[in-house]
Amino acid sequence: MTTIEPYTGTQLGKFYLGNCEELLNGDLGRSLEGQVQLVFTSPPFPLNKKKRYGNHKGEDYLKWFAELAPILSRLLKPDGSIVIELGV
Ligand SMILES: C[S@@+](CC[C@H](N)C(=O)[O-])C[C@H]1O[C@@H](n2cnc3c(N)ncnc32)[C@H](O)[C@@H]1O
Repeated sequence: MTTIEPYTGTQLGKFYLGNCEELLNGDLGRSLEGQVQLVFTSPPFPLNKKKRYGNHKGEDYLKWFAELAPILSRLLKPDGSIVIELGV
């Protein structure tokens, strides 16, 4: 098991920096499975004019998002929630 070191943290929690799919499909995600009460996320939007960090568009975006959903939901406790900021 390769331990991913958090970028920073306090006694209240840890901050990991990286691609969420890679982090959550790996040991970190496995260690959190069924443990998370709230996933609060502000994912990239399917923008025509891309931001510096880039984003998928159209069908690619839907495919990326659809593949992200089970990764996030696997983390949740039975009464856990996912809150997603979807830019308007
Ligand atoms: C819509 S912005 C978040 C904006 C933020 N809520 C704010 O108010 O400043 C999306 C962020 O997701 C990051 N991002 C993009 N793809 C990612 C991925 N696969 N895993 C983790 N973060 C990602 C981008 O670098 C960007 O900072």
